[in-house]
Amino acid sequence: MNITQVTPFSKDLQEKIDLLIKRRTAIKLGNVSFDSPLLLAPMSNICAFPFRLLMEELGAGGTVSELISCHGINYKNEKTLRMLSIHPSEKNIGIQLFGESAESMAVSAKVVLDHCQPKFIDINMGCPVRKVVTKGSGSALLKDTSKLGHFFKTIKDAIDVPLTIKIRTGWDDDSLNSPEVIRIAREEGVEFVAIHGRTRTQQYKGLANWDLLEQVSKESVLPIIGNGDLHSPTLVRKRMANSNCKAFMLGRGPLRNPFIFLESYLEDGEEVNFTPGDYWEITSRLFEYNQMYTDRERTLLVMMRKHIMWFAAGLNNAGQFRNTLFKCPELDDTMNLTKDFFLSLTTAKKQLNPDEAFMTSGHG
Ligand SMILES: Cc1cc2nc3c(=O)[nH]c(=O)nc-3n(C[C@H](O)[C@H](O)[C@H](O)COP(=O)(O)O)c2cc1C
Repeated sequence: MNITQVTPFSKDLQEKIDLLIKRRTAIKLGNVSFDSPLLLAPMSNICAFPFRLLMEELGAGGTVSELISCHGINYKNEKTLRMLSIHPSEKNIGIQLFGESAESMAVSAKVVLDHCQPKFIDINMGCPVRKVVTKGSGSALLKDTSKLGHFFKTIKDAIDVPLTIKIRTGWDDDSLNSPEVIRIAREEGVEFVAIHGRTRTQQYKGLANWDLLEQVSKESVLPIIGNGDLHSPTLVRKRMANSNCKAFMLGRGPLRNPFIFLESYLEDGEEVNFTPGDYWEITSRLFEYNQMYTDRERTLLVMMRKHIMWFAAGLNNAGQFRNTLFKCPELDDTMNLTKDFFLSLTTAKKQLNPDEAFMTSGHG
């Protein structure tokens, strides 16, 4: 990682960030402390350090890496090891591992601690993807709870940082067994449980079952982080005001509204307007972080293009801009077009349909 100084935000943007960020209250979940109860959810191919760090700067109380294969780590796969990079400015970061074998997970967790010193190690127990599940990892771990005690204990014994898990509500509607998983996790010293409020069978269809999340959290012996469909500051605020969950994870919401963590701290009727210029500033910051992460031009182009399109979603003329960007093969041109696009706008008010399907597949 080639760390360099980044360009400071403008005074105007920094003042807006400072105003809202100081309203956060720190929280402790088990033995893990966060700067606020609003955390960035793990997302594969998205939650490497550039996006994680940007989100911490824009108010996320903590972040989790994308899922990383224990076998990839144990085989010292170069690409997998790069996924373990943590930027020195990241404060509250967990590394998420996936695998089916307790022993391989324990070995890889030790490698992680030697490699990058995260604050905690998280186990992916929610990934619904066939390739992962057929090997017995991800949400397949929810199927046979008799093995979980050994699984958690073996990993926990290998590490000297807290162990946490992220699950779904169950495999399917006939096996909503999160209370059982939580009980076993507590016995083996897991600190907290993040729950995506859908079953594995449900994948990303329908809505997250918040009634169930609230009920499970109410009775839980461990702190629960609720997750699923919190895609607007209004929804986050409502949930924060009245919930049994101790914290919340936001995944897809921050992709299209990178200011969602900050805007969740707005008071009723208060307006702090983020401008098109602010969008350009945070895009530039993300670009600087991505340049520290990789010097491969093609990778940079792919990474930047997808974030730019998500940031632009719902802004005036976003459709036309997206078409132009798709046809642009050069990184420099992509960044110039993006600057021109954002700076040509007079408002950053978005028109997004909250019911429209967005990113309906993922690894958890
Ligand atoms: C593109 C994408 C990738 C994801 N990758 C992961 C992952 O690596 N690990 C994980 O536990 N969950 C992963 N998830 C699930 C999210 O963490 C989260 O549980 C889910 O998106 C629901 O939250 P949301 O409605 O706020 O997005 C992913 C989701 C998406 C959309």
